[in-house]
Amino acid sequence: MITTTGLTKVYRSRGRDVTALDGVDLHVREGEVFGVIGQSGAGKSSLIRCVNLLERPTAGTVTVDGLDLTALAGRGPRAGRELRRARSRIGMVFQHFNLLSSRTVQDNVELPLEILGHSGADRSRKALELLDLVGLADKAKSYPAQLSGGQKQRVGIARALAGDPKVLLSDEATSALDPETTRSILRLLRDLNRQLGLTVLLITHEMDVVKSVCDSAALMENGRIVESGTVGELLATPGSELAAALFPVGGAASGDDRTVLDVTFQGEAATQPVISQLSRTYNIDISILGAAIDTVGGLQVGRMRIELPGRYEDNVVPVGFLREQGLQIDLVGQEPALVKEGAK
Ligand SMILES: Nc1ncnc2c1ncn2[C@@H]1O[C@H](COP(=O)(O)OP(=O)(O)OP(=O)(O)O)[C@@H](O)[C@H]1O
Ligand SMILES: [Mg+2]
Repeated sequence: MITTTGLTKVYRSRGRDVTALDGVDLHVREGEVFGVIGQSGAGKSSLIRCVNLLERPTAGTVTVDGLDLTALAGRGPRAGRELRRARSRIGMVFQHFNLLSSRTVQDNVELPLEILGHSGADRSRKALELLDLVGLADKAKSYPAQLSGGQKQRVGIARALAGDPKVLLSDEATSALDPETTRSILRLLRDLNRQLGLTVLLITHEMDVVKSVCDSAALMENGRIVESGTVGELLATPGSELAAALFPVGGAASGDDRTVLDVTFQGEAATQPVISQLSRTYNIDISILGAAIDTVGGLQVGRMRIELPGRYEDNVVPVGFLREQGLQIDLVGQEPALVKEGAK
């Protein structure tokens, strides 16, 4: 639904070039909630602003719903009209809501429809329908100043939906909100995604946001995407930074001469019989340091941190046994000397 290839953005600021996007290849599938996470300055806002061409990319292409937006930009009046029409099908939600304070809630939602040239009756019907959808039917005649932050963001979302978009872009939509309100806004985005089949690309610096609503995620660093995939794929990727952050388990080794492993399983699989088989087969004592079962991006995931006596070199065979059972095994803390030598 959204594809970028080699997307690059260089800002020229006070005679100095700042590369905010450095060849980003992003692929967001139709109907999914895709989260882009990264630290401040990683290029997240630049990415989202280039996706709807609020910002003109320096190089690369952006395709939304099969239409190459970058090809339309700057190609004369006809292409300009096409680009505007394409952009009206991309809704955008902002961190600070960007509502007009002099207009009522309803008039704020009607604004994009005015720009699209809809008639008064049509606008009013649509705005009330959308306000109902976001749970604010009774606030149509209020002004933004009379609303809470969460309510303002609901208005922002209703306005973003006015052009019947297929894609919703959200730049830190919840970072000005408290945790409870954040959850309710995320639930709303998730419901809209399901009810309307809306594809959502959201930008955040909070892992909890990714964890609670995203089907897929990408990690951005210095203008590049360094990890990306469905939540299931990420959790199944050994050494994935995103996976570790999405689903941490605690527990420290009880001594130097120990091997600590994170065992991850998805869905119905359970580790319990495997662990007791391991213990019996190799006659070793296994300690469980930590364990958790959680729902990440709608997937049931379990992770257990276990400790085996001896260093990694002494446990190559038992670790191999666990991997053969189809479990994902990540070595924690210790430098896997054998693995390194093997890789040379
Ligand atoms: N209009 C601009 N002119 C010059 N440099 C800019 C401009 N916008 C962004 N930058 C620079 O581009 C880089 C990426 O900025 P961007 O706003 O995309 O980051 P971000 O990941 O959204 O950060 P945050 O989490 O703080 O919002 C930063 O180094 C920033 O200073
Ligand atoms: Mg930003």
